[in-house]
Amino acid sequence: MANRLFRTKSIHHLMDEASNSSHGFKRTLTATNLTTLGIGAIIGAGIFVLSGQAAAQYAGPAIVISFIISGIACAFAGLCYAEFASMIPIAGSAYTYAYATLGEFLAWIIGWDLILEYLFAASTVSVGWSGYVVSFLRDFGIHLPTYLTAATGSILVEVPKVGWQQLTHNLTQALTSQGINVDNLPHVTAVLNLPAMFIIAVLTVLLVIGIKESANFNNIMVITKVSVIIIFIAIGIFFIKTANWHPFIPKNSGMIGHFGWSGILRGAGVIFFAYIGFDAVSTAAQEAKNPQKDMPIGILGSLSISTVLYILVALVLTGIVSYTELNVADPVAVGVNSMGQGMFWLRPIIKIAAIAGLSSVILVMLLGQPRIFFTMAKDGLLPPVFSKVHPRFGTPYVSTLMTGSVAIVLAGILPISILGELVSIGTLLAFVIVCISVIVLRRTRPELKRPFRTPFVPVLPILGALICFIQMAFLPLDTWLRLLIWMLLGFIIYFSYGIRKSKLRNIDGNTKQ
Ligand code: ALA
Repeated sequence: MANRLFRTKSIHHLMDEASNSSHGFKRTLTATNLTTLGIGAIIGAGIFVLSGQAAAQYAGPAIVISFIISGIACAFAGLCYAEFASMIPIAGSAYTYAYATLGEFLAWIIGWDLILEYLFAASTVSVGWSGYVVSFLRDFGIHLPTYLTAATGSILVEVPKVGWQQLTHNLTQALTSQGINVDNLPHVTAVLNLPAMFIIAVLTVLLVIGIKESANFNNIMVITKVSVIIIFIAIGIFFIKTANWHPFIPKNSGMIGHFGWSGILRGAGVIFFAYIGFDAVSTAAQEAKNPQKDMPIGILGSLSISTVLYILVALVLTGIVSYTELNVADPVAVGVNSMGQGMFWLRPIIKIAAIAGLSSVILVMLLGQPRIFFTMAKDGLLPPVFSKVHPRFGTPYVSTLMTGSVAIVLAGILPISILGELVSIGTLLAFVIVCISVIVLRRTRPELKRPFRTPFVPVLPILGALICFIQMAFLPLDTWLRLLIWMLLGFIIYFSYGIRKSKLRNIDGNTKQ
């Protein structure tokens, strides 16, 4: 039994698979495409939604330091991903790396866990997309029926001068402190989040049609969001009032995680979501023209560009408006408001950038998931139907449609908070395993050709794994319980299906590589 669980996939076999073009994918992506794919996946809800809330509630202007800390942890993980992605350019990403190093059972766990990252992230971000679209349309006098714009069963209240808002504990507290009784406001119980479902459906169809078409759409979205972010930074610099940065690290309120250094760390944990996505580049490995060279460029290039932009946005945002005013769903738009009436023209442009940004995150997440399913099905751990490639479009259309269908349902019925935390814990777990796998493979197969080498092994991967684990530890107990239940479901599927159907059934031939 133990032999079966820890059987590994031969690296040479994987390298053959990577160089063999019979998998049916089209190799069309260049280093630039891969970098924009990464930026497409990274810059989204994290900066456009969460940054302000994290500054207002946890870190103050020192959210800049939170961005740096979280960025360093991701850089460590990114360097480890780059080594694997250049060495084993297979669409399975962390799942494949674990299969080559830690054995089938852990690989399955990671593959199953990655569903939390990719599929759930697509749904999470689509809920953020829906929020921005509803608000953008409202600015132009178009009102979507409120009960069709939020998770099933959630309560929406009409706040004077602001419009319909989802009723949360924070909102109730904020309104009560202003002397408003929530019970007296008009209420609606939501049935479905229709805009969130709509965007997933549209992007799923695009992904079935072709990788090149999807990459082109992604490029347009990325150019839009990055240009607008640069405009915001360039104009915002002139509106900075340095008084807003004093104190840069607000004094801790006496509660752990509420300002001070512990607040900076909690802020880093929240803001981690903003960095998720650079690893999605590795799932396009079999569609890259020159994966050995271009995978590290795509992963590290997109991560570096996004990190620089995040730090600058955080500096400008907390410089132009007091962090106490940023606890809103659209902090960057609030930043523009504070520049004065002369700058109001920038507001709809910021919303368009956010909508573009969130669209590309959803797209790349919906692109990554089917490719991981594809690889798992090729290995026999999922039914063969998941590895079907469309004869004309050259895309894994069955797994794309299945991913899209589940993501649509989740996006329609679940609230963003539950989805978002599951995404973070799932991604952090994958990063921990990838960091450890680099050390394992350096020990077990030191002679393998590594087109890109992670520097300072084992110190850097150990630090990467440690920081990610600490961030996991700070997530709420409920999120851990959901992760455990999800994993139990995964165990049941593996022991009733994968272990018997695995292509590595003939373990004698595979335990030695
Ligand atoms: N990093 C992505 C975002 O912030 C998931 O939306």
